[in-house]
Amino acid sequence: MQTIKIDISKIDAFVDSNTVSAFQHTLEKNHRAVLDKTGQGNDFLGWVDLPSQTDESLLKNIEAAAARMREKATIFVVIGIGGSYLGARAVIEALQDNFAELKRNNKGPFILYAGQNIGEDYMNQLLELLDAHEYALTVISKSGTTTEPAIAFRILKNHLEKKYGKKEAVDRIIAITDQSKGALKTLATNEGYQTYVVPDDVGGRYSVLTPVGLLPIAVAGFNIRELIRGAAEMEALNRQSSQFGDNPMALYAAARNALYQQGKKVEILVNYLPNLFYLTEWWKQLYGESEGKEGKGIFPAGVNFTTDLHSMGQYIQEGERMLFETVLSVDQPHTKLVIPEEEQNLDGLNYIAGKRIDEVNKMAELGTMLAHTDGGVPNIHLNVPAINEYYLGQLIYFFEMACALSGYTLEVNPFDQPGVEAYKKNMFALLGKPGFEKETEHIRKRIGS
Ligand code: PA5
Repeated sequence: MQTIKIDISKIDAFVDSNTVSAFQHTLEKNHRAVLDKTGQGNDFLGWVDLPSQTDESLLKNIEAAAARMREKATIFVVIGIGGSYLGARAVIEALQDNFAELKRNNKGPFILYAGQNIGEDYMNQLLELLDAHEYALTVISKSGTTTEPAIAFRILKNHLEKKYGKKEAVDRIIAITDQSKGALKTLATNEGYQTYVVPDDVGGRYSVLTPVGLLPIAVAGFNIRELIRGAAEMEALNRQSSQFGDNPMALYAAARNALYQQGKKVEILVNYLPNLFYLTEWWKQLYGESEGKEGKGIFPAGVNFTTDLHSMGQYIQEGERMLFETVLSVDQPHTKLVIPEEEQNLDGLNYIAGKRIDEVNKMAELGTMLAHTDGGVPNIHLNVPAINEYYLGQLIYFFEMACALSGYTLEVNPFDQPGVEAYKKNMFALLGKPGFEKETEHIRKRIGS
C-alpha cells in the first residue's frame, strides 16, 4: 500500500534548505515529547495511539448501532459543533457522491447537520424537512454543555418525541459525550439513550477517530475499519522515526515553521476536488485552534481550485506576500470522463478533445503552482493516491500529528483553546445566564443598555 507523500522542494526559493534542516533537532525533541506524553497539554494525547488501540468490540458495536439507524431513518442528523462535527462531515462529504442529496438511491440515510450554527431559519427549515421524513439523530458534545448543539438537541428531541412518541424517540437518539460529567451525560442517563464515550484524553478537534466521527461515518455507509487502518499506517510510520527523510509529518511541521519565521503567516490549504471542502474546514479548525494563541500562529485559510482561482487567485498571485500554499494533490479520481471532439470546434476546445477532465485539472494544478511560486508564494505539495477511507485515515493522522509537532515547535500548547471562552462569556452575560450576573451588569453598562 502507498502512503501520502510530501514534497517541499517548491519552498527552496524562499527558505534555504538549511533553515528547514535546522529544525531537525527541535522536531526530534518534540516527537519524543508527543510519543512519551511529556509535553504541554499531555493529558490530551490519547489520539496519538488511538488507531492502533481501537477495540474490535467498539467497532462492532458502532457498526451495529449504525445498521440500526440505517434501517430506521432516511435522514440522520448529526448535532455538534467544532471538533464534535467537522471531522465526521469532512470524511462523509469527501466520500459521498457530490449530488447524493438529490440522487437519494436507497443506499441508507442522508446525513444532515444541526447545532453547528444558531440560525433560526436553518433550524425551521430543517424541522420542516424532518416533518416529512423518517429520521434519527446523534447528539455529540464532549463537554455536554455547549450552547449551540444543546439548543438544537432540545428542539429536535421535542420534535422526535412528538413525531414518534417518547419510547421510539429514545430508540432514535444516540448520545456521544463524556463518560461521567456534563448536562448531556445526565440527560442521556436519565432518558436511557444509547451512549458512546468521548475519551477523556482526546480533545474535540482530535476526536474524529473516536465514536464522535466513527458513528456518523458508519451511519453514512462508509468503512470505518479502512479509515482506522489508514490512520494506523501513519501512526506506525510516525513511530519509526522523527527524521525528515522518513517522517513526512515532522517535515511538514518543520517546513511550515521555517516559512512562518520568514514572515509567511498565512497558510492556504488548496484542493482541486469540490468534495474536499469540509476536509479543509476540519484542517482549519485543527490548526487554527491548536496554534493560534499567545499572539502567535500561522493563520489557516483554505481555497477550492479551480473555483477560487476566479475569486482568490488574484490576491494569491499579486497581493501581500505573507502567504504559502499547501496543496492536496489527489492522483486518481474514481471515474473517467473524456472531453468530446466536435467537428465545427466553435468553442475552440478541440485542442483538449480526447483528454480526461482530470488531465485538465492536473494541468491547472501544475500551471497554478508555477504561477504562484513565480509570484512569491511557496508551495508544499501533499500527494494523496486517491480519496477513499484508507487514505483519508492517513491524512487525518498526518495532519493531527504534524499539528502537535508544529504547535510544540511554536512553543504553544496545541491541545487547549482558552480563547474560545471570550465570546461565550459575553454571550452568556448578554443572555442573562445564571452565574453570570456580574458579567451581565458589566456588559450592559459597556453597551449602554
Ligand atoms: O476542538 C475543540 O475542543 C472544540 O472545537 C470543541 O470540539 C467544540 O467547542 C465543541 O465542544 P463540545 O464537544 O464540548 O460540545
